[in-house]
Amino acid sequence: MIENMRKIVFATGNPNKVKEVNEVLPETLTIVGLKEIGCTEELPETNPTLEGNALQKARYVYENFGKDCFSEDTGLFVDALDGEPGVYTARYAGKNCTSDDNINLLLKNLDGNNQRTARFRTIIALILDGEEFLFEGIAEGNISFERQGEGGFGYDPVFIPEGLETSFAEMTAESKNEISHRAKAVKKLIAFFENQKA
Ligand code: IMP
Repeated sequence: MIENMRKIVFATGNPNKVKEVNEVLPETLTIVGLKEIGCTEELPETNPTLEGNALQKARYVYENFGKDCFSEDTGLFVDALDGEPGVYTARYAGKNCTSDDNINLLLKNLDGNNQRTARFRTIIALILDGEEFLFEGIAEGNISFERQGEGGFGYDPVFIPEGLETSFAEMTAESKNEISHRAKAVKKLIAFFENQKA
């Protein structure tokens, strides 16, 4: 039995995110999924900012299920598109669109444009005993001219992290976890829990 074991709800329905986050968590921190606490509904996400959405999802779980939890919201901000798709990254190409549709639209909107700089931003909202905390992680990079690689999820095939030539979709999960927006935000979350123990 590991000492100071802590279980916390990760308020997301996205199994890719659970997998990625689990890979960087220390043994002392275990994630409990929404299904395990009986939450099967879609969490509300109606704010115009990542911070607002992350807090909205975490508050929903805290208020309805009474559990300490964290949630995450991520957006892709493309400079040549004035920060689009931003908070609308998931439904850029429409309400029920696929990642493929989103990538197609992004490449179309950047067609003929050599200014490709972009960043992924993740905000994690944590609620512990009713107290709220925010953590941010940013990955700078460029949008490629065409898809590269088969791995990862979402926009990974067209996101080339700064200083590299391979996309997130061409990296191993370990390599992506060393530099990704989400991993950076999660590292801050872990550091927060570690400081609490001290
Ligand atoms: P959300 O945080 O689930 O709302 O994600 C917003 C959008 O960003 C979705 O379309 C995801 O597929 C995409 N996304 C989030 N994180 C990543 C990532 O690490 N790589 C590629 N796409 C991502």
